[in-house]
Amino acid sequence: MTATVRERPPAPTGTPVLSLRGINKRFGAVQALTDVDFDVVMGEVVALVGDNGAGKSTLVKVMSGVGPADDGTIEFEGRPVAIPTPHAAQDLGIATVFQDLALCDNLDVVGNLYLGREVVRIGALDEVEMERRSLDLLRQLAARLPSVRTRVAGLSGGQRQVVAISRSLLGEPAVVILDEPTAALGVAQTAQVLNLVERLRERGLGVVLISHNLADVFAVADRIVVLRLGRNGGEFPVQDVNQDDVVAAITGSRENVVAERAARRAGHPEAESVEEPDAETPHGAEEEVR
Ligand SMILES: Nc1ncnc2c1ncn2[C@@H]1O[C@H](COP(=O)(O)OP(=O)(O)OP(=O)(O)O)[C@@H](O)[C@H]1O
Ligand SMILES: [Mg+2]
Repeated sequence: MTATVRERPPAPTGTPVLSLRGINKRFGAVQALTDVDFDVVMGEVVALVGDNGAGKSTLVKVMSGVGPADDGTIEFEGRPVAIPTPHAAQDLGIATVFQDLALCDNLDVVGNLYLGREVVRIGALDEVEMERRSLDLLRQLAARLPSVRTRVAGLSGGQRQVVAISRSLLGEPAVVILDEPTAALGVAQTAQVLNLVERLRERGLGVVLISHNLADVFAVADRIVVLRLGRNGGEFPVQDVNQDDVVAAITGSRENVVAERAARRAGHPEAESVEEPDAETPHGAEEEVR
């Protein structure tokens, strides 16, 4: 693997819109997250990466109110907040596109976009208005779909992802979290979704991108945050690292001084003996490779 050179200008550096500090989350005997810090910045794509079982989805669930943290603090726009439910996350302006997308196959694109937030006029669904707004949104996002009246069952994986991401924008969120949006996609579809991620950043949103695909991460992310064994395993501005550095942080290879330094700074000197499985965290999934 070689270093990836970014050709576009760096995104604006803003203040964090969402800040998590000292997040801990335990499932019975499994300590899924330990003292995790994570920031989302407006107008920036932050990639959250890590091996299977590293805690990425658990952290997403903390931010989306699906699985609140056991302890730790969360600030939104500088104010301390609690995110005990998905509704609380939505109210704050945090939208999450989960991997299963939760689209209704039997409805068309407009029906899916406006499911649960239908536009009503004189007691009836205002289909014309919903279609007009759908076309407008998809045009703004430069999203290519056959027709907004196509049933979602007939769309490709990439197009379905586009519908799910577009739907998340209707609540006018500040933060959009995308869990593995390109996992099941081919080359052209992946390009379409990554293009959409760039549109989200252009709109000034804070975007969290969870991905196992480092090529995708390097293509669109501004900053990469590594989780390893449920802890912070390194944080990198994309222009300062190559894929080898990130792989080293993900796997915890001995050469990776950055991850070790981060772990030491977090007060976990045991994290230096990275070749050994972490005895106190029953994360046994490290051998798994996707
Ligand atoms: N509901 C749950 N009950 C028990 N353990 C859980 C639960 N959810 C997650 N875990 C455990 O927490 C740890 C972190 O899991 P998580 O799903 O967050 O990892 P991940 O980084 O998203 O992995 P992947 O890349 O495979 O999706 C794992 O050890 C997992 O088994
Ligand atoms: Mg996951």
